[in-house]
Amino acid sequence: MKRMIVTALALGILFSGCKGALGEDSSSRGKIPEIKIGVAVYREDDTFIETIVDNIEKLAKETETKDKVKITVNVVDGKGTQATQNDQVDKFLAQGYDVICVNMVDRTASATIIDKAKNAGIPVIFFNREPVEEDMQRWDKLYYVGSIPAESGTMQGNIVVDAYNADPEKADKNGDGKLQYVMLEGEPGHQDALIRTEYAVKTVTRKGIKLEKLASDTANWQRAQGATRMTQWLEQEFGDKIEVVFSNNDDMALGAIDALEAAGTQQLPIIVGVDGTPPALRAIQDGTLTGTVVNDSKKQAENIFKLAYALANGTPLEDVPELSQGKYIRTPHRQVTIGNVAEELEIE
Ligand code: BGC
Ligand code: CA
Repeated sequence: MKRMIVTALALGILFSGCKGALGEDSSSRGKIPEIKIGVAVYREDDTFIETIVDNIEKLAKETETKDKVKITVNVVDGKGTQATQNDQVDKFLAQGYDVICVNMVDRTASATIIDKAKNAGIPVIFFNREPVEEDMQRWDKLYYVGSIPAESGTMQGNIVVDAYNADPEKADKNGDGKLQYVMLEGEPGHQDALIRTEYAVKTVTRKGIKLEKLASDTANWQRAQGATRMTQWLEQEFGDKIEVVFSNNDDMALGAIDALEAAGTQQLPIIVGVDGTPPALRAIQDGTLTGTVVNDSKKQAENIFKLAYALANGTPLEDVPELSQGKYIRTPHRQVTIGNVAEELEIE
């Protein structure tokens, strides 16, 4: 008799995939037959976001096998439009998802989503695009997983300082005692764009190295747009005057390299990105990209999933020791240059 019940339970888990299937009994045993996690991203084709999503899906699969539960991870693409994302989140709420992970299209528009989720009693984990603090205070079931943008900007600045100090003559091509730079910025309004820019520049000048800005513009985190901007700058008055390319992320830095190579530039300037994507690490190995700062997508995915799973299961959040102020998880960065890129490639 006992065995039959166990078998029925196992079959229920495997085939029914629907919450009420095991009745009250199962929840009193602490077993959840299916949990549903909704993931709404601002753009699915963003290289960095894609890695986070892939890792969340991988963790869900591993956990399904390990804990014998069914975990549905439904990923939807906002395609850069907030109204589309709002509709997608509405659907998750209407369908009774256990938890919703949101990578806002427009982080200043979080209040609408927060209020609806609060009404439905469904917790929200924001990631990568941080709502303002005032919005995060609207409810106690709101979380944010991301990184510390000031840290990535500072580390990016450090890489430029080190490259300059290693060979000042090579870095300062025209020998005027200043580093002429261009800045490729992420989407306007994104905390990582604004703050990385500020801290990268600050860090270099604080070390006593003079900077002169030639140009800066947004390339919306995208490689093709980074290449377009850089081509315009090269063709405009700047040509070989550019001695440093700061880029708020790796994709745009790689775009700048595409443009420099297409223009047949002999000696590449110092070029720095952020993220530590596999193609960026390879570019460091090839000697085209000077360095990057790892924005730990793996750790962020791990934290998002861990938190989502705990919230869906109703287990205490003490199991997620990374949480600070009961709401925030911020992963630390790592600096990568030619000296340690091999180790980093091994982690990938
Ligand atoms: C990453 C970018 C990414 C952006 C998306 C940033 O933290 O560094 O690569 O495009 O987030 O929101
Ligand atoms: Ca110079």
